[in-house]
Amino acid sequence: MRALTVETGRNGSVRTTEVPEPDVETGDLLVEGLALGVCGTDKEIARGEYGSAPPGREPLVLGHESLGRVRHAPDGCGFSPGDLVVGVVRRPDPVPCGACARGEFDMCRNGRYTERGIKDLDGYGSELWRVEPDYAVALDPALEQVGVLMEPTTIVAKAWEQVERVGARAWFEPRRVLVTGAGPIELLAAMLGVQRGLDVHVLDRVTEGPKPGLVTDLGATYHHDPADEVAARLEPDVVIEATGAGQVVFDTMAHTAAYGVMCLTGVSTAGRHLSVDAGGVNRELVLENDVVLGSVNANLRHYRQAADALAKADRDWLGRLITRRVPLSRAAEAFTSDSGDVKVVITIDNGNG
Ligand code: BGC
Repeated sequence: MRALTVETGRNGSVRTTEVPEPDVETGDLLVEGLALGVCGTDKEIARGEYGSAPPGREPLVLGHESLGRVRHAPDGCGFSPGDLVVGVVRRPDPVPCGACARGEFDMCRNGRYTERGIKDLDGYGSELWRVEPDYAVALDPALEQVGVLMEPTTIVAKAWEQVERVGARAWFEPRRVLVTGAGPIELLAAMLGVQRGLDVHVLDRVTEGPKPGLVTDLGATYHHDPADEVAARLEPDVVIEATGAGQVVFDTMAHTAAYGVMCLTGVSTAGRHLSVDAGGVNRELVLENDVVLGSVNANLRHYRQAADALAKADRDWLGRLITRRVPLSRAAEAFTSDSGDVKVVITIDNGNG
């Protein structure tokens, strides 16, 4: 069968190649791949900067933003052939640490977790893949065209849950949220904010292309001024940050409302230095009981939250987030950026794509 593979650590080694069908040991559910989302992490792996293949062998089958249709399901596992499913990305560490032992593998304490398509486990970028029924999540059948947005939605479902849990340490009725960036993660974060009835603002640099319209059609407000100006004007109760750009992070951090909660989800490149008023930031956080927290990955609870959020979202709007679909045979094109891109998806149409 064909798969999207990469020699980890080697820039430019992403290929669509023939690989053996997945080993039954990788899960009882046999799934036909339909689509695969490409994100910043995949691009980092493609550049050889991140990721690891299963121990002792290369290449790694890439892909963690999955969508597939069940071909074979063992009796009594809760799935049936034809079901639309996505596979969960992370697996608990083998020790396991206290968090992993409690199903909170997204909060793993010892870093020995594994991740499909990222860290030590083959991903979902293949014509057929297998997954353990306990790590598969069924999607509303009506979501076939957009269900590939599920994994990024889990990331922001977790981010929102974290914000609300942190906020719940005292009286918390947030009204205004600022989402920094207008990529797929940010737009999905904004969608979850709108679903919560909040006054949602999204900040990005661009003034053209699909992003401004996607924001306004969501019922949110689009901004393209510098981050410090926008944040100072809005004084948001909640910030969801996904650009990972240091300047945006610190400019925004300084201007949250009192008791502001800022959730960082962008994985940035280390080694870039900024000059910041550290005392000023510290003073603001202390005097206003502000919180800045990091959030990565998602556990099964967040997958269920994401499935519910997608099921009640406007499917046409979700469809507009996918600005490019590239067949598996031309997958390399999905790794080049186009200024009009929001989400690029690789389609896997078993035998034809
Ligand atoms: C994925 C997460 C993963 C993280 C770090 C992200 O792109 O969405 O599931 O935990 O990368 O590997």
